Amino acid sequence: MNRNTDYTLLTRSLEALTGGIPYETANLANAAALLWEQLDDINWAGFYKMTDGQLVLGPFQGKTACILIPVGRGVCGTAVAEDATQLVYDVHQFPGHIACDSASNSEIVVPLHVNGSIWGVLDIDSPQVGRFTDEDRRGLEQFALALERCLENCR
Ligand code: SME
Repeated sequence: MNRNTDYTLLTRSLEALTGGIPYETANLANAAALLWEQLDDINWAGFYKMTDGQLVLGPFQGKTACILIPVGRGVCGTAVAEDATQLVYDVHQFPGHIACDSASNSEIVVPLHVNGSIWGVLDIDSPQVGRFTDEDRRGLEQFALALERCLENCR
């Protein structure tokens, strides 16, 4: 399916929503809602933040999710351990995938940085196998860059 998400527009919307707002939780909550509203065929969108050496659940849209993820575990922990985006075509083929919602079949996780170190991750799940393409990866990495600039000015 060709969804043609306009990630440049999505990123501009994020900048408009978060501009001048120095509050992390508020901006992350709106970022998760924006992704939830604008991306087709997703069942979870949100954040995990590095806290006390592990990933801790942050603002999100979707079903209740696991709260703590150790670095190196699951798709999110792997994104942190490798400091690289994880584009997972079929989560059932990903060793150690953590299933929060049994409806999830594919996933993309983008690491986020603040002032040069890992802040946490953006995580998006889909019920459709192969939902995320290289184009989505590039677009979401562009979105993540804007989010990093936003987080650098937040408390
Ligand atoms: N599937 C993730 C866990 C978080 S949920 O998808 C919201 C993982 O394997 O890290």
